[in-house]
Amino acid sequence: IDTSVNTSPVSPTLYGLMTEEINFSYDGGLYGEMVRNRTFDAQWPRFEHWVTVTHGNAEEKIDADDTGPSEALHKSLKLNIAQSSPGNEAGLANAGYWGMAVRPSTLYRGSFYAKAERVGAAHARLVSDETGATLAEIAVDVKDGDWQRYSYNLKTAANVKPSLKNHLEITFAHPGSVSLQLISLFPPTFHNRPNGNRPDLMEMLASMRPAFLRLPGGNYLEGDTVEERFNWKETVGPLVDRPTHRSPWNYQSTDGMGLLEFLEWCEDLKMDPVLAVYAGYSLKGQHVGGKELEPFIQDALDEIEYVTGDASTKWGSERVKDGHPEPFSLHYVEIGNEDEFDKSGSYEDRFARFAKAIRSKYPQYKLIATTPVKSVIPDVIDDHYYLTPQGFFDLVHKYDTMDRNGPKIFVGEWATRMGSPTPNFGAALGDAAWMTSMERNSDLIVMASYAPLLTNVKPGGMQWSTDLIGYDALCSYGSPSYWAQVLFAQHLGDHTVKSTADLVNARFFWSATVSTKDKMLHLKLVNASDEDQELVMDVTGAREGPAAMNSLHAATWWDTNTINKPDAIKPIPSKVTIASKNWRHNLVGNTIEVIDIPLR
Ligand code: AHR
Repeated sequence: IDTSVNTSPVSPTLYGLMTEEINFSYDGGLYGEMVRNRTFDAQWPRFEHWVTVTHGNAEEKIDADDTGPSEALHKSLKLNIAQSSPGNEAGLANAGYWGMAVRPSTLYRGSFYAKAERVGAAHARLVSDETGATLAEIAVDVKDGDWQRYSYNLKTAANVKPSLKNHLEITFAHPGSVSLQLISLFPPTFHNRPNGNRPDLMEMLASMRPAFLRLPGGNYLEGDTVEERFNWKETVGPLVDRPTHRSPWNYQSTDGMGLLEFLEWCEDLKMDPVLAVYAGYSLKGQHVGGKELEPFIQDALDEIEYVTGDASTKWGSERVKDGHPEPFSLHYVEIGNEDEFDKSGSYEDRFARFAKAIRSKYPQYKLIATTPVKSVIPDVIDDHYYLTPQGFFDLVHKYDTMDRNGPKIFVGEWATRMGSPTPNFGAALGDAAWMTSMERNSDLIVMASYAPLLTNVKPGGMQWSTDLIGYDALCSYGSPSYWAQVLFAQHLGDHTVKSTADLVNARFFWSATVSTKDKMLHLKLVNASDEDQELVMDVTGAREGPAAMNSLHAATWWDTNTINKPDAIKPIPSKVTIASKNWRHNLVGNTIEVIDIPLR
């Protein structure tokens, strides 16, 4: 390794995040909402995840009501309470997304809409499934008359045991009728944002030092049909004005994580949005062309204006109304998703028309095509790879010789698929090998994001195996692949330096990048074979002496982390002594090492 020979720049935006509603990533995941099917629009049955509660001799009947608090939520659930009294109450219960996480000394903020006749106060309470004990309770005065929003707070005591085996009850102590809609409950959120995100998951994502967030998908952008696309205009504004929609991953999305929430997530983690706009093609093969494409192009222009416009613009002022006066920064717009699957070949024309419209209004943004196009040159092409470990080992030289004069590359989705629900150590080795290649080629590969990022690990929570981070309602953990990414992203220079190796095993990979500001060589070594790899290294420019090292190791490829054993495989920090000539270093089999070597 010769640190005095700078070979190519490393993109400061190389590592980022890709996200979509899959595997209960937002609902039942990152998005803090604890109530499942809060707007009663599960696909079938409509009131799924709700049960009636009758204490003592209380009696009630549940009905569908064809009225609601808004045009978007124009239906509701009606309780006809024949009999109830204080202590013998009737109402509803919801057990959340495979449980509701309740912690000690914690304030939970809730709300609901109600239209009532004679029912008096609603009692909201968090109840333990295990003991039946009430963990927090509050009365909310519900007035007779038309739809109104009510809010309530539930505070747990210091002696409450952290658990997810809990549910929410909303009950009434007087006979009468009440229609309910948008019943919501939130725990404390990251940065205390209302309608915000789970802190544990946000902290895990922050550790990945992401430079960008590719949003909102993935297949989720496209929907199965044009009707079911991510129609961003229906995901902004008050929650009561969001109709919700079916996602292609076969469940209803609350759209609580709407366009503004995606952007605030970017703001919270200091990421740039990579805004993917719907481009007229949906997964089941529908595509839009001719004059009919025009409204979709306009929607994309409006979306960019919502993100970046000031209060003098139509959509910028909508964002201001929604509570975010400052425009967001934007550099990249992606047109569609995986349009190589559009066998009609319509992407050539669709891309050209979106590009023309966006470039004429916003020439400053770089445009990403999802597959190569000929008539208009995109700034960036989005390549996706889902491979086995060997698949990635075989791919590591693909970009070494690629033309540097064409569009840049965004590896917008990639993952070594081995392990479920989260990747095992063999997958982490494939990932690490691939990351050495992307770092070496980062003059060309300007951005990369692993996918999928998140999965709820409860049975029924996962639609796509091998997801970076796993969780249930209470706990979360990083897979070995997550830790490999944290190590790679946290120890990245601004340029690569000259490095060669010979007589190494076929599953040995490395990356050598230097941080000019820190005067530090970040040396990444990957030994994906079972055998030790003896190394004798010359590191020109290294300061001899101790250096910080982090090792990620497992005995076999099948070793992994799980929700019950979250820390089985984690980086182990240590020190190593560097020599600038003939430095002998043994890299144990199945190991990823990252060494920060100070330079003279
Ligand atoms: O990441 C899972 C899916 O893989 C994405 O939604 C899609 O873009 C790709 O096919």
